[in-house]
Amino acid sequence: SSSKLLIKGGTVVNAHHQEVADVYVEDGIIVSVQPNINVGDGVKVIDATGKYVMPGGIDPHTHLDSDYVVTEGIDDFFSGQAGALAGGTTMHINFVIPVNGSLSAGFEAFAEKAKKSCMDYGFHMNVIKWDEDVEKEMEIMVKEKGVNSFKFFLAYKGRSMVNDEVLLKGLKKCKSLGALTMVHGENGDAIVEGQQMMIDLGITGPEGHALSRPPVLEGEATARAIRLAAFVNTPVYIVHVMSIDAMEEIAKAKQAGQRVIGEPIAAGLALDDSGIFDPDFTTAAKNVMSPPIRKSGHDKALQAALSTGVLQLVGTDHCSFNSTQKALGIDDFRKIPNGVNGIEERMHLVWDIMVVSGLITPSDYVRITSTECARIFNIYPRKGAILAGSDADIIILNPNASFEISAATHHTRSDTNVFEGKKGKGKIEVTIAGGKVVWEGGELKVVRGSGRCCSSLSSSLTCCRYSHAAAFAPSMKQGLLGAEVEEESEEKERHW
Ligand code: URP
Ligand code: ZN
Ligand code: ZN
Ligand code: ZN
Repeated sequence: SSSKLLIKGGTVVNAHHQEVADVYVEDGIIVSVQPNINVGDGVKVIDATGKYVMPGGIDPHTHLDSDYVVTEGIDDFFSGQAGALAGGTTMHINFVIPVNGSLSAGFEAFAEKAKKSCMDYGFHMNVIKWDEDVEKEMEIMVKEKGVNSFKFFLAYKGRSMVNDEVLLKGLKKCKSLGALTMVHGENGDAIVEGQQMMIDLGITGPEGHALSRPPVLEGEATARAIRLAAFVNTPVYIVHVMSIDAMEEIAKAKQAGQRVIGEPIAAGLALDDSGIFDPDFTTAAKNVMSPPIRKSGHDKALQAALSTGVLQLVGTDHCSFNSTQKALGIDDFRKIPNGVNGIEERMHLVWDIMVVSGLITPSDYVRITSTECARIFNIYPRKGAILAGSDADIIILNPNASFEISAATHHTRSDTNVFEGKKGKGKIEVTIAGGKVVWEGGELKVVRGSGRCCSSLSSSLTCCRYSHAAAFAPSMKQGLLGAEVEEESEEKERHW
């Protein structure tokens, strides 16, 4: 029947190992991985000879169906996921925005929005203020909803920005819950100053966005978050690392033994700031995101850091808008909705930039696009691996074919693409999600409502509801005042 599938003769790549083998799938689950599997009639066979068979991508950072500040993003769960599947990503973790300050109301709203899903997903929670209710709700999120990662913003003053006191309370609360603290590292107070300086100079175009929030402000806030996490002695995850300044703070902390996770995104690895300085408003505005896409050199440094493990996994920060929405800021860059696309493009770009270039191996590629995310957010080995018992979320990549990115051919909704015209080697020819072939021969066959929420509470193949950041970032050897620190409870309980 159609629920049985055999992928023959490909090179099966996991984060730990690669070998030529067949992969047999039944009812959405990988049943066996070994050479020369023989099956009877009625099984769909896909020939993967000469191609790579890899775990579907997991995007740790998306904003589907999200209303950030100016206007609603253009991709909902269905359109964003359709694009994702066409680009080889089979799961994403989306940020929940609280509703009227309530985390639970926000979670319910996003659970509702996600009902149209055509692929599996999980959630992180934004925390944008602090009181007793928030603390209680964080506990409910972890214990009852399986959401064990909370993002704090050091930018967006007057909206979602939190001060150091709230970040510290958040770090402590996350530590007590076994959850992971995520931080947007940019100094929101200084950015407001920078923006006013630009306006006073008469710089109102998109370039003002980049000029008003330079790398030094990303370095400062990232360093502050890392040091406050050291003070609390808990891991911290820095989202969308865009600059050398932030990356070097992460490198320094890791060198010293601190558990810090750094997430670069597709746009930061593949682009430089030439786009935002383009004289054409539409072109410039589609490049507006925070932290900004940096000048040439930062991209290469982030790639190098990713290849050596200073940075650990790649997201997209997919938060896409139409050109008409971007045009809300035609007279004032502060009103341009912030965000770029990437959920559909990440897997191809990272293959080309990192593997084809020779910076990393295919196994490294699987680790940074899938496995590491599954480990950190506790969905491994249900996802992030091609192993018997894992979900059949699989891609087949032809290393000899090529890709080209364009808004004219992408599957997400925006009328622009920040990666317009990018070409490269390596083409994802087949995507299998939940055991079903959803992308093959350039055709997308997705089913609205087929995606499942994969919180750590709903997975039979995960060990507990906690974040495993502690286990997958280098362990901290020294705590406060140089005292030797006891093993974290997560490690003591031996979840693995
Ligand atoms: O510009 C961005 N990054 N928009 C999405 C919200 C965020 O800060 O991640
Ligand atoms: Zn952010
Ligand atoms: Zn984001
Ligand atoms: Zn565990």
